[in-house]
This record gives sequence, structure tokens and C-alpha cells, in this order.
Amino acid sequence: MNKLLLLFLLVTSCSASESTVNRPHIVFILADDLGWNDVGFHGSGQIPTPNIDALAYSGLIMNNYYVTAICTPSRSALMTGKYPIHTGMQHTVLYGAEARGLPLAEKLLPEYLKELGYTNRIVGKWHLGSYTKEYTPTYRGFDSHLGYWTGHQDYFDHTAVEAPGWGLDMRRNMDVAYDLHGSYSTDVFAKEAVNVINSHNSSTPLFLYLAHAAVHSGNPYNPLPAPDETVEKFDYITDYKRQRFAAMMSKLDDSVGAVVNALAERNMLENSVIIFSTDNGGAAAGFNLNAASNYPLRGVKNTLWEGGVRGAGLLWSPLIKQPQRVARQFMHISDWLPTLLSITGGNVSQLENIDGVDQWQSLSEDLASTRTAILHNIDDIYGNAALTVGTWKLVKGTTYNGTWDNWYGPSGRDYDYNATLVIDSVTGQALKSINISLTPEMIEVLRNFSKINCSNSNIRDVTCKPLEASCLFNIAEDPCEMNNLADEYPEILKSLEETLIKFNNTAVLPGNLPLDPRGDPKYWNYTWTNFGDYINEHSFHF
Ligand SMILES: *[C@@H]1O[C@H](CO)[C@@H](O)[C@H](O)[C@H]1NC(C)=O
Ligand SMILES: *[C@@H]1O[C@H](CO)[C@@H](O)[C@H](O)[C@H]1NC(C)=O
Ligand SMILES: *[C@@H]1O[C@H](CO)[C@@H](O)[C@H](O)[C@H]1NC(C)=O
Ligand SMILES: *[C@@H]1O[C@H](CO)[C@@H](O)[C@H](O)[C@H]1NC(C)=O
Ligand SMILES: *[C@@H]1O[C@H](CO)[C@@H](O)[C@H](O)[C@H]1NC(C)=O
Ligand SMILES: *[C@@H]1O[C@H](CO)[C@@H](O)[C@H](O)[C@H]1NC(C)=O
Ligand SMILES: *[C@@H]1O[C@H](CO)[C@@H](O)[C@H](O)[C@H]1NC(C)=O
Ligand SMILES: *[C@@H]1O[C@H](CO)[C@@H](O)[C@H](O)[C@H]1NC(C)=O
Ligand SMILES: *[C@@H]1O[C@H](CO)[C@@H](O)[C@H](O)[C@H]1NC(C)=O
Repeated sequence: MNKLLLLFLLVTSCSASESTVNRPHIVFILADDLGWNDVGFHGSGQIPTPNIDALAYSGLIMNNYYVTAICTPSRSALMTGKYPIHTGMQHTVLYGAEARGLPLAEKLLPEYLKELGYTNRIVGKWHLGSYTKEYTPTYRGFDSHLGYWTGHQDYFDHTAVEAPGWGLDMRRNMDVAYDLHGSYSTDVFAKEAVNVINSHNSSTPLFLYLAHAAVHSGNPYNPLPAPDETVEKFDYITDYKRQRFAAMMSKLDDSVGAVVNALAERNMLENSVIIFSTDNGGAAAGFNLNAASNYPLRGVKNTLWEGGVRGAGLLWSPLIKQPQRVARQFMHISDWLPTLLSITGGNVSQLENIDGVDQWQSLSEDLASTRTAILHNIDDIYGNAALTVGTWKLVKGTTYNGTWDNWYGPSGRDYDYNATLVIDSVTGQALKSINISLTPEMIEVLRNFSKINCSNSNIRDVTCKPLEASCLFNIAEDPCEMNNLADEYPEILKSLEETLIKFNNTAVLPGNLPLDPRGDPKYWNYTWTNFGDYINEHSFHF
């Protein structure tokens, strides 16, 4: 080896290990199908979420934060920093029997973090492909995975009912985790997350991606699975489905407390960045057999209305320079990749051809957002598209023939909120141990600021018929999308239509494939599997 190269290697390896020591731990908690109004920090006191709320009030309540409308596209944007139209993931979800996944040419968030010395762990849902092993998490930058590959599971038997069949979907890395039968998913994942933290050598930085099953519905035979004793605690909620949902939500909140507590006990909390986010809007009013709430926003999961894409989310870290506020920064889920690279001291300018922008300084110091437009999606199979530029939103076409284009709720918006529960929560106590304290006064102020008000007197209720013509809304004045301004502002409408065409010109075709009958779990001991690795060696006929 030549001397210069050797010197170069010594220098780079020294600086890498030195800087590794101070890189913050990242815990990304992704809830599934959680609605805007399901978290206490801008919802009601109906379902207390004191652990999540404690992080929100002491960090940033992200009130202008957007996700995509459904699971696979959202997770693809999080992992790649790209809009789903740029990875072929823009149409509906990935199915376990599809011979595809998030394209292997994509470099994923954990792969970038690996270069900075991170240990990467995923706990919970993947939903970005499992046709062959190369598509699964431990081949894509994660050092371990306890969880599942498809879009949902029963919370007790861990099976997924999904065309063309039914099978177990729970893995420890590549092995089927038959032994977890009967243990409640949210508890399984919380316990694993705590184990990951407890066994982590904190001289290296940790990236923990905790992607819960909660609060997605389970299988049709038990759509809202929760332990009986937890359901009983919510007997004051008279809507039976909402009561069961509350139990699922409450278990999710407990898991956040367990994770924060573990970080505090390992003295990792002070050097951590915690994100809590939904993947898409809530499945309200029986959509997907679920009972989430996006009140007062319009629409549900898998619609491009605000209820489908405006995400419940927060960012917490002692590294935030201006914490404890309602953040108005305009942000998209694809921004996390560059933002996290920025927080961790990575090289953001190495990122090429991504759609996400680095928002770290804007968020931390409360500066103007680095983003002016968000493409919510273009899906030519459904025939819908939407984007927001500044405060203006264009909505073209819709899903479900307009059946889910309404307002649902208020789902218990009027319950009193108990700030003491937040201060006394497991998370509240853990924060106190690092000298971060919350008061009932600040909680009330922040809750008032984060509330979305749809009773603005300027709203005149001009109907939008998105299947007939494009609609235009001013989201700052009309976050509930009641007043279609398309006729009033034709120039703005035209300009947004042009921007949409520009985006569309960069789109790749959707990657969806027909279901492969060979993926049916009945051929694989009733498990969802990476069947593409085995079909050629399989001796019997499908
Ligand atoms: C943690 O990692 C450091 C650096 O690699 C090593 O020196 C130390 O022995 C490890 N500690 C434990 C408990 O494994
Ligand atoms: C960051 O990446 C850019 C683009 O690849 C490169 O030019 C620059 O040298 C890198 N900076 C560092 C500090 O590595
Ligand atoms: C969509 O709704 C319209 C108007 O109600 C109806 O005529 C049409 O048949 C529906 N199409 C589908 C595919 O359901
Ligand atoms: C609020 O929660 C605290 C702590 O659990 C409890 O002591 C108190 O009774 C609650 N207040 C109300 C009004 O329910
Ligand atoms: C918290 O404050 C106490 C008292 O001022 C101090 O002794 C302790 O070191 C602080 N702890 C942290 C983690 O900053
Ligand atoms: C919060 O809003 C409520 C209702 O509008 C009001 O009564 C209360 O004074 C506000 N509190 C603060 C601290 O601004
Ligand atoms: C909502 O806005 C209306 C009209 O601007 C105002 O009268 C009302 O007090 C507001 N409600 C809240 C809760 O801020
Ligand atoms: C996007 O481009 C494709 C291919 O030219 C076209 O078929 C489709 O209608 C366009 N979609 C939108 C929303 O403009
Ligand atoms: C098939 O599944 C059952 C549980 O349903 C399990 O006990 C058994 O070990 C599995 N067989 C193989 C060969 O993996």
C-alpha cells in the first residue's frame, strides 16, 4: 500500500470513530394509520396519550407536516427521501404475493447512517417488499429486525389475511417467529425496542426504527385487537369501536413511555433525537374497519384531502435550539432523510436526485421552512393527484368515487384534557430526570396554538366536485377544505396545474404487479415468505 493512501486511511478512520462518539441516537417511532385527532397534543382528552404528548410539548408539535396517504408510499418516502412517483411506489400498497419491492437500486436511510457508524435496528412493520431476501430489512441496511413484512397483522396470532391467502407474518431477521404467538404486538415491539436500547453499546450511535402495527386494524375476524383489561379502562367511550381503538392507542402510548424511560436509564436520552409520526391519515368512521379520527380535517387514509395527508407528528431532542413550540415549518415525510443526515453530521450535499430537503436548521432555530411545495401524489390508476404550493392546494380527482371525501367526527373532541397526567407520565418523569419540566400553563398555551379552527367566518362552503373539475383551496385560511376557490382564482389554479404537469413529467411508471399465486402462504407452512427465493427449487406444483 502506498504511504499516502495509508495516511489517508488512518486519518479518515480516526476522524470517523472520533465523531461517531457524539452523534445522537435516533429513535423513529412510526404509528400506523393514526389520525390527526387521535393524539392528545392536538386532539382531545378522550384518549389520553400522556407519553406522546410529553414529548410534543417539550419538543416541537409539527402542525404543518405532511405524509403520504397510504402505508407503502409513505414508508418508501421515509426510507429514500423521494416522492413515491420517483420510485414507482405511488399506487396503493405492496402485497405479500407481489414479485416486487422498493427497487434495490435505492439507497436507504439506514445505509446512509451505517456510513456514519450507526447500529441500525428495525422493530415492527416493513411493508417495502419481501419477494426475495434482498428486499427485506436486514439486507437493506438494518442490523436486525423483529417484526413483519406485509401491511398489517392480527395483534395476537400475528397472521395477515390478504389476497390470495392467510398466513403468519412475524420474523426474527429471516426466521419465522412462531414462538411469539399469543403475545400482543404492541407489547412485543415495545419489549424488543427496550431490549435494543438496554443491550446497545452506547459508544456507537443507535438508529432505532420502531414501526408499530398500532393503530392499524387487524384481520376482519378481530379488526380492533386489544387486551380486555385495557378495553375496560375506556368504558366511558360509548362507541364500541372507538372504545377498542382507545385501548390500542393507549398501548401505543405506553410503548412510547417504555422507550423514553429506557433511553433515560441508559443515559442516552440527553443525546437522542426522537420522532413520533403517523405514516398516513387515520382510517376513520369504519374505513378499513377502523375508528381513528382526523377531526376536523376532511377525508381519511388513502384520500389526498388533509385528513389523509396532514400527519400527526412531533420532533423531540435536547439539540433543538427553540423547543417547546408549535412548529409551522412546512415539512414532508421525505425530508426526514436529509434532515436526519444533517442532525447526525452527515454530508447532505452528497444526496442527489432526492425530493426531501434538509429542515434541521429551520426546525431547530424556528426559521422559514426550506420547502415551498409538496406533491401529495399523482396516481393515474386511481386518477387522482394533489399538491400544495405555499398555502394553495390543488385537488384533482379522488379515490373510492368520492365515497370517503367527507368530514368525520368529532370523535370526543370535547373531553377535558388532563395536563397532570402528562406531567406525571413515565415520559414526563424521564424528562424530569434530565431537567426538562412541563407545566400545566405551557401545555394549555401549546394546545391552544396547535388547534385547527374550521369555523372561520370567511368560509362560504363552495362545493368541490373533484371528479368533475380541479378544486383549489387556501389551506392557511381553510384547513378543512370547505371552500373551493377554483373559479375565484383561475390564475393560481392554472399555475398549480402547470406545476403538477412538471412533476408528472418526472414520474416513473407504478411498479405494481399482479398477485403471484405462488406467494400464497398455504404453500409455505401458512407463512408469508420470500417465496421468490424458493419457487425454482420447490418440487411440487403450485
Ligand atoms: C463498546 O464499544 C467500545 C468501542 O468499540 C468497546 O471498546 C467496548 O468494549 C464496548 N463495550 C461493551 C460493553 O461491549
Ligand atoms: C460532501 O459531498 C459532496 C458531493 O458529493 C462532496 O463534493 C464534498 O466533498 C463532501 N464533503 C465532505 C466533507 O465529505
Ligand atoms: C361513481 O358515482 C357516480 C355518481 O354517483 C355513479 O354514477 C357511478 O356509477 C359511480 N362509479 C363507480 C365505479 O362506482
Ligand atoms: C388528572 O390526572 C391526575 C393524575 O393521574 C389525577 O390525580 C387527577 O385526578 C386527574 N384530574 C382529573 C380532573 O381527572
Ligand atoms: C439537573 O439539575 C441538577 C440540579 O441543578 C443537577 O445537579 C444535575 O446535574 C442536572 N442533570 C442533568 C442531566 O443536567
Ligand atoms: C386557551 O383557549 C381557551 C378556549 O378558547 C381559553 O379559555 C383559554 O384562556 C386559553 N388559554 C391560554 C393559556 O391561552
Ligand atoms: C375560530 O374562528 C372563529 C372565526 O374567526 C372565531 O369566532 C372562533 O372563536 C375561533 N375558535 C377558536 C376555538 O379559536
Ligand atoms: C401524467 O402523464 C401521463 C403520461 O403522459 C398521463 O397519461 C397522465 O394523464 C398524466 N397525469 C396527470 C395527473 O397529469
Ligand atoms: C410449521 O408451522 C408450525 C406452526 O404453525 C410450526 O410449529 C412448525 O415448526 C412449522 N414447520 C416448519 C417446517 O417450519
